[in-house]
Amino acid sequence: MPTKIDMAKFAKFCKDMGFIYQSSEIYGGINGFWDYGPLGVELKKNIKEAWWQDMVRNPPPGPDGQEIRMVGLDCAIIMNPKVWVASGHVGGFADPMMDCKASKKRYRADQLEALSADAGGKTVYFAYPKGDDEAQKVAGKKAKKANAKPGATVAVMSIPDLIAALPIIVGPDVEEAGTLTEPRAFNLMFESHAGPIASEENKVYLRPETAQGIFANYRNVLDSTRLKLPFGIAQVGKAFRNEINPRNFTFRSREFEQMEIEFFCHPAESMKWYEYWRDLRKKWYSTLGVKSENLVPREQGKEELAHYSIGTTDIEYMFPFSDEPQELEGVAHRGDFDLKAHSAPPPKGSGNDKLNYFDEERWNADSAGRSTNSFKEWLKTSPPAADVEKYQFTPHVIEPSAGADRFTLAVLCEAYTEDEVPDAKGNKETRVVMKFHPRLAPIKAAIFPLVNKDGMPEKAMALYRSLKPHFNVFFDDKGAVGRRYRRQDEAGTPFCITIDGDTLKDDTVTIRDRDTLKQERVPISQVRATIERALTPGC
Ligand code: GAP
Repeated sequence: MPTKIDMAKFAKFCKDMGFIYQSSEIYGGINGFWDYGPLGVELKKNIKEAWWQDMVRNPPPGPDGQEIRMVGLDCAIIMNPKVWVASGHVGGFADPMMDCKASKKRYRADQLEALSADAGGKTVYFAYPKGDDEAQKVAGKKAKKANAKPGATVAVMSIPDLIAALPIIVGPDVEEAGTLTEPRAFNLMFESHAGPIASEENKVYLRPETAQGIFANYRNVLDSTRLKLPFGIAQVGKAFRNEINPRNFTFRSREFEQMEIEFFCHPAESMKWYEYWRDLRKKWYSTLGVKSENLVPREQGKEELAHYSIGTTDIEYMFPFSDEPQELEGVAHRGDFDLKAHSAPPPKGSGNDKLNYFDEERWNADSAGRSTNSFKEWLKTSPPAADVEKYQFTPHVIEPSAGADRFTLAVLCEAYTEDEVPDAKGNKETRVVMKFHPRLAPIKAAIFPLVNKDGMPEKAMALYRSLKPHFNVFFDDKGAVGRRYRRQDEAGTPFCITIDGDTLKDDTVTIRDRDTLKQERVPISQVRATIERALTPGC
């Protein structure tokens, strides 16, 4: 993988193995919601822990070799709804919108009508905005030109119909079919009510991203940590979006987890940090076993950029359900959009004018020749704005925003391998093996007594108990050893440790490598160190 695979077959494999189940399956399921099974929950936890360890606790040095300062947050999912007004999620953008990749125009999906026509035996739709007579005439002319048989019908297409017909719809302002994007509502937020009465005043939203909790706490973090620019605030947590068209297994879900960093820096240094995070984030996926050729960083075109973004690079992955690479993570240069939005006067923002940064070090360094050392006093002398901005400004923000579920899906796709191995009699048999990076593997090692006698089970159980406090390990004494290996290969366990007759004589065990199938004999006392070595981060 990832060569093309049948996603239905793959989803079944994930279910059979206990990676991912459809949510509420016993009631017929619910579209866009997924549950992680016993192996899946370990895998996703390992992904989130690796991210936290490598990005928050131990990030690599910055572009100039400097230490990077990172702290974490864990914010409530429900926030004051005014947060979502300031962020731009509420108001103005609540409709399902479609973009035309060729004309760069945007249309309300629920207001497009189309003439359906039979052009040379094939159905083609010519779309135009409802109620726009001129546009309807143009659509009619285009249909005629395309040799459509007259008598074409006029239909308001429902959104599912529009989505299904996208490749054969000619947009209102173009001549070719297939240039309209899927409808996407900007405000995809799930609503609820805080308090006993379901009234408009009590309306709240389930957060559609973890980022805004970070911006809303910017001042709290600065005041409680006394961090100096540049620094990052990270958060891992659930986000909810009422996606119009959840699809491709967990790829686009309505409930998912994000791993987001908001990295605050001086505006003059923002491009340097943007490039740093873009390159680091791509590299991180490679260190966890994703092949470079399956990772495609793509700079978004100006027309694609979100309302807050100065520049965004999508790190895309060749998911096996698509011919085109698909977004795994977005690294966005958000400029000062968010801090300025939240500090704007009410009703648009909170009116908190402290969402800026005072560069105390620079202020003190420039003290020579100044009549006062108090910044407040100095402001009273009405210095030029450019001078004030040298010391007090709104930081710029670089945001690497990754999806924990999306990366879990990518890891599952990347790991899935079918190969041939010899069975006990030397005949070739096909095995499914999940080639997870050992750091991400749900089970790190399985411990087997070769046979259930001669003290081997006791010795194996003792080893299992000694490893259990350190790693997720599995004890298996059921069935032939070959069968036990297969089960662990399917679960993606990197090491299988067998206690045999020699163990009883010299305290050594065999460690079988999942990928090379090589068996190495090592003293029991070195088993823990062998596993630990494989789990050492390599970022
Ligand atoms: N704060 C910026 C932000 O949320 P985004 O590109 O909308 O940006 C960031 O989302 C990441 O979250 C995506 O790259 C993807 O990994 C994940 N994500 C977004 N929507 C998702 C969905 N419906 N299902 C699963 N993951 C999703």
